[in-house]
Amino acid sequence: MRKSISSLLEQKKKNDKITMLTAYDYHSAKALDEAGIDVILVGDSLAMVVLGHEDTLSVTVDEMLVFTKAVSRGTKNAIVLSDMPFASYQACEYEAFKNAARFIKEGRANAVKLEGGKEICKSIEIISKANIPVVAHLGLTPQAINALGGYKVQGKNLEAAQKLLDDARFVQDAGACMLVLECVPSKLAQKITQSLNIPTIGIGAGSYCDGQVLVYHDVLGINQDFKPKFVKRFANFNPKEAVKQYIQEVKSGVFPNAEFSFDLNDEWIDKLY
Ligand code: KIV
Repeated sequence: MRKSISSLLEQKKKNDKITMLTAYDYHSAKALDEAGIDVILVGDSLAMVVLGHEDTLSVTVDEMLVFTKAVSRGTKNAIVLSDMPFASYQACEYEAFKNAARFIKEGRANAVKLEGGKEICKSIEIISKANIPVVAHLGLTPQAINALGGYKVQGKNLEAAQKLLDDARFVQDAGACMLVLECVPSKLAQKITQSLNIPTIGIGAGSYCDGQVLVYHDVLGINQDFKPKFVKRFANFNPKEAVKQYIQEVKSGVFPNAEFSFDLNDEWIDKLY
C-alpha cells in the first residue's frame, strides 16, 4: 500500500523520522522504494545532476515530467513528490494549478513541491484546495539563486530567522502539507519544527527536523566533484574508477573471459567455411 500524507503526519506525532531521497529514473526509484523510503523527490536538482546545467533555473515542466513518469513507474509504496520548476508557479495561480495538475495527471506524482514563502501562498492555496498535496521549501531556495547571490546558509540573523519562521507559518496556513528546510541553522530548524503541525524535512538543517532529504548521487558517492558540509556519503560508487578499470581490462584482454562469453561446439566451428 502506498504511503500517504496523513501517514507522514502520524510519523511527526510519533517522532518517527521521515526519510526522503531524490531519484530521477526508474531503477533508482525502484531501489529506494524497495528499501522502504517514505518519499521520493523528483527534485529539480536533476537540472544539474542529470542534465548538466549550472543551476536549476533552465529545467522545464515538460522535462520534469519525463523524469517524474520514470520515477512513478518504479515506485509502489513511497510517495512520489515532484518539484515544480522555476517560473511554473510564481506569477499566476491559475498557471500554477494547471502545471501542478500535469504532475499528477501525466507524471502520476502524489504531491508537488514549490519554493518560497508568503509570496507564493496564493498558489499553494489554489493547488492544495484542488486536493493536490503541496510541499513548501524555505531557507536556501535554489530557484532564487540570482536574488540570494549564492548557495549560502539562510536565517543567520534575527530578522532573517524571524522571516523564515513567519514564512513557515504562512505556507502552513495556506495549505502546505510539509515543509523542506534547506541550509538553515539547526536551532532555527528546531524552532520552526516545534511551531508547526506539518512535518519539516531538513537538508543541511540539522537533526531536529521531522525528517531528512539528500540527493541520490551525493548519498551514493556518484557525484565525486562536489561535497557540501551537510552531505554524508553512504557508499562510494566512484564511476570514474570503475570506468578506468573497464578500459584497462578491455585493453589487456582480461574482460571478457569465458565467464562472460557464450560457447559454440568446436564441431560446428570446424564445419564453417
Ligand atoms: O531539487 C532538489 O533535489 C531539492 C532538494 C535538495 C531538497 O529540492
